[in-house]
Amino acid sequence: MISIKRKISIIVVFAFLLILSAGCQQSDKDINALNDLEIIRAEVWKNQHPDIYASFMTNAEMEKTTYGGSVPVDYLEEFPNLKIFYDGYGFSKEYLRARGHIYALEDVINTSRPKGGASCLACKAADFNVQLTNEGEGLNKIPFVEFVEANPEMEGISCYDCHRNTPGEVKITRTHFTQGLTSVEEEKSGNLACAQCHVEYYLDPDTNKVILPWHKGIDTDDMIEYYDEINFRDYEHPTTGAQILKAQHPEFETFKGSIHDAQGLTCIDCHMPKIAGEKNLRSHQWTSPLKSKEGLTQSCIPCHGGEPEAIISKVEGVQESVYKKTNEVSDELLAYIHRLGKAVETGDVPDEIIEQLRDIHRNAQFKWDFVFVENSEGFHNSQKAHKDLDSARELITEGIAILEEYEK
Ligand code: HEC
Ligand code: HEC
Ligand code: HEC
Ligand code: HEC
Repeated sequence: MISIKRKISIIVVFAFLLILSAGCQQSDKDINALNDLEIIRAEVWKNQHPDIYASFMTNAEMEKTTYGGSVPVDYLEEFPNLKIFYDGYGFSKEYLRARGHIYALEDVINTSRPKGGASCLACKAADFNVQLTNEGEGLNKIPFVEFVEANPEMEGISCYDCHRNTPGEVKITRTHFTQGLTSVEEEKSGNLACAQCHVEYYLDPDTNKVILPWHKGIDTDDMIEYYDEINFRDYEHPTTGAQILKAQHPEFETFKGSIHDAQGLTCIDCHMPKIAGEKNLRSHQWTSPLKSKEGLTQSCIPCHGGEPEAIISKVEGVQESVYKKTNEVSDELLAYIHRLGKAVETGDVPDEIIEQLRDIHRNAQFKWDFVFVENSEGFHNSQKAHKDLDSARELITEGIAILEEYEK
């Protein structure tokens, strides 16, 4: 028998739950009534998706791994050759390792690198992209600081960037990416969500528009061919006079064609493992998979077997050989730059040969840089990384052989 008192309390609880759920529906309705060009901030989803929100907030954590991780290591200090390679360009002033998404906006605002214009925000805050859609491409050129000051409520990478206002469904929010995709076939949503930003790009020198150089394909040779055709350079190297291309963060282009791509995996299989628990939600902490034994167990062990420690060693073995070769080729490139610089200075080498030697500098540095700046230290596709480094090395050897002819 249920006592009267108990009955009343059940009714009260029921009524309370009814009111609560009505309240929820009300707020859902408000949220759903907003169109896709109004941004709902992460905080607003906190009650509906508490576990994902909590996971999202862990992007603030900073921890190092052997070759990667989220500590903003000063690359210029760790790899001093960079100051010569990037001489004449912003990256010779400041270049730190990438960290969590939560920092993207403050890091671009605080960098001491000069900023071309507001389009630097294209991969940092959806506010910029929404206004770009509303106001047109002229927005790319307005001063960076002007846009930042006019949008104090702006939020860094957030739910909207990958979902618009329907969390759970992957939606592309970047027009530069939609345009890039007209040249490249990619349908897997687990790659599309990330490749919006984790790609090579350049800024159109006249309009400041973000463009992905995929017109001929996504390998370094294809990109060089395209850049040559449109006569593009990021900067002129002050020592050699070469027209240098600066690679950005080509995770997507590197990953494509890899062993794991062939296995049908996408970025999110390794970077967003399912969080333990009955809800089967995906982690929303985008960081090195090597930091979480639970994550490795979920995303690697089903295929590889063994213990998480063993898979970490396997990854580090692949990275070590790429790291070693990256540093060797870096020293060879540095020596080449000094020798070519000397040849330019003395004027002993005919002009057309100097042009050929400058092209070698341009192409070798782009291939080397493409591997160096890619954030997995070769793991995403060790074959491609070795191929680019070997090809850079061959170019440098060819250039040195030509220089030796004239140095005799
Ligand atoms: C097969 C698993 C796997 C896939 C698929 C994968 N990654 Fe990774 N990713 C890794 C591993 C392992 C590392 C190395 C982490 C380290 O060195 O600590 C890494 C490193 C990174 C890093 C640097 C992280 C850090 O903390 O150093 C970024 C950024 C990244 N991946 C983005 C992507 C993107 C974007 C894609 C899809 C195009 C992708 N990854 C696909 C496993 C994967
Ligand atoms: C960097 C891209 C990205 C951001 C930012 C992002 N998500 Fe996701 N989210 C994904 C991807 C990718 C999936 C997996 C979709 C799939 O499996 O097809 C996902 C899945 C989900 C799901 C479905 C359940 C699950 O875990 O698979 C929900 C709900 C969700 N996200 C909510 C959010 C909320 C809320 C935020 C902001 C606090 C957010 N997401 C931010 C990429 C993102
Ligand atoms: C809107 C652009 C954007 C999207 C979309 C995006 N990223 Fe990022 N990502 C960034 C930026 C910018 C940084 C560097 C932030 C910093 O250093 O301040 C970054 C950093 C990272 C890092 C390094 C963080 C660490 O702890 O080492 C990883 C890993 C990563 N992203 C993976 C992903 C994955 C996986 C996806 C897709 C689910 C994704 N990103 C989607 C822009 C993006
Ligand atoms: C769908 C199955 C599958 C999943 C999931 C998977 N791998 Fe693999 N992986 C393979 C296969 C197949 C190979 C090629 C054979 C080999 O080297 O073991 C491979 C190769 C590798 C290699 C050697 C790569 C090289 O360049 O030589 C490493 C390191 C590796 N995997 C790490 C990982 C990590 C770390 C994860 C999880 C974050 C992971 N794998 C998830 C199937 C998978």
